[in-house]
Amino acid sequence: MSSQQHSQAWKALQTHQHSLKNTHLRDLFAQNPQRFEQLSMQTCGILFDYSKNRLSAETLTLLQGLAQDSGLNDWRERLFNGAVVNNTEQRAALHVALRNRSDRPIQVDGHNVMPKVNQVLDKMRRFCHTVREGEWLGHTGKPIQSIVNIGIGGSDLGPKMVTEALDNYRHPRLHTYFDSNLDAAQLNHILSIVDPETTLFIVASKTFSTQETLTNARSARQWLLEHLQDDSAVSKHFVAVSTHTERVKAFGIDPENMFEFWDWVGGRYSLWSAIGLSVAVTIGMDNYLRLLSGAHAMDEHFRTAPLEQNMPVLLGLIGVWYTNFWQTRTQAILPYDYALKLLPFYLQQLEMESNGKRVTREGQAVEYNTCPVVWGTAGNNGQHAYYQLLHQGTQLIPADFIVAVHSQADKYGHQNPVLANALAQTRALMLGRNSEETRAALGDECDEAHLPHRLFPGNQPSNLLMYQTLTPDILGSLIALYEHKVFVQSVCWGINPFDQWGVELGKQMAAELLPALEGQADASHYDGSTQGLLAFIQSHR
Ligand code: F6P
Repeated sequence: MSSQQHSQAWKALQTHQHSLKNTHLRDLFAQNPQRFEQLSMQTCGILFDYSKNRLSAETLTLLQGLAQDSGLNDWRERLFNGAVVNNTEQRAALHVALRNRSDRPIQVDGHNVMPKVNQVLDKMRRFCHTVREGEWLGHTGKPIQSIVNIGIGGSDLGPKMVTEALDNYRHPRLHTYFDSNLDAAQLNHILSIVDPETTLFIVASKTFSTQETLTNARSARQWLLEHLQDDSAVSKHFVAVSTHTERVKAFGIDPENMFEFWDWVGGRYSLWSAIGLSVAVTIGMDNYLRLLSGAHAMDEHFRTAPLEQNMPVLLGLIGVWYTNFWQTRTQAILPYDYALKLLPFYLQQLEMESNGKRVTREGQAVEYNTCPVVWGTAGNNGQHAYYQLLHQGTQLIPADFIVAVHSQADKYGHQNPVLANALAQTRALMLGRNSEETRAALGDECDEAHLPHRLFPGNQPSNLLMYQTLTPDILGSLIALYEHKVFVQSVCWGINPFDQWGVELGKQMAAELLPALEGQADASHYDGSTQGLLAFIQSHR
């Protein structure tokens, strides 16, 4: 049993929540004309407005007390100093070293890792240059035009999200695709578009043992060889990103064409390592380094700013406030910047694989909620799908709105309507509309019998993150903001955010089921449902 919720800070927050329970957000604004000024901040080019939340200055003080009691200052120092913060795997979690653009040495096991981090960045730069300048030639002598990143989870979601988000920076000759799913439909679709003579596959896998990735990579190699009819073509069309040289060699990729990273980089934090190679080739190494610099700027802010002026700390604590004291179970991510349409998917892995845990670092069962379900889609689309529930449903759902002042791509003057919608939604969710206002708004059309259907309770909380326009630097800062938010929450919950044992059981059972599906193993010991499903599959082959 975990002690977190028996602490003074936790109890004080519970009592405080009772005192705020019946206060509407519109009252909080009415009581304090300075609310926005007091409950918003800026750093790294990002404005964070957290004024539309069910909280007061006292709430934040109490939450900071909880963070302090949980040892946040100490954990933050340990994270940046390369201590073993991932206790179940006995590893550091040093994604911050990968984007350390300063000269500050960062030690793992007594060794400064910065020289090898910078060596890999140099190798990436040389590779990006040759591909982008058309000097890297395919087997038949043609320059590369298509990049296909084969990977899954952290070896897919980050690079894919960033490549999409920064499409404005793409080299005009290069098109980049991402293959992750085991169902061959995804690979087939990509292979139907690209040309084997001008395609470069990046096989991205930390372990180089992931079933989905290796299966897809083998099929891609088979496709290439069917077209080019020469085994030596593989070296011109396949490179690898991994921590595991032997497995890369065994697959048939020359270690010369391998970009290394290290076990102290977690899968979902690996975008900043050579796993970002597909991004770097597509947008150019200088822009990729800007992404790292943006993340580094947020790291420095997180590392040095006092808790009460620390953006990731505030974002994390506000999440804890809802999850543990208002018992919310989901968190919406709503980007009003179409370039960030994949951000909710990226954050699903970052947040749910990190903090979807039920035991503390010491292995005791937690007695409180941990990570909420993270979900969302690009702004306006959601308005015409599920916002109904946000406005008039029965659940309290905190939402993060992420908004660009300028879209990257507004040739036709859409941006003011986009901004109007984003601001209107946060305002409507907060204010709602009572019966008096509804009668006034509807005038003669107001039908008293239908009035309840036209009311909006409001009081739905939201954060709003706004920046001028999505550049590599801003995107780097934004991603690092969420990474550190997740870390802050893990500290408050007393859990290890850097392991992911929860993905193992399904993998293991799939490996066991495969022989039964191939008719090479007896299935009679499986549960009734699995046996029934196997029988249906066999009878419909
Ligand atoms: O889903 C489990 C996981 O280990 C993720 O953490 C990781 O990002 C993904 O699988 C892919 O792993 P790899 O890069 O080793 O192929």
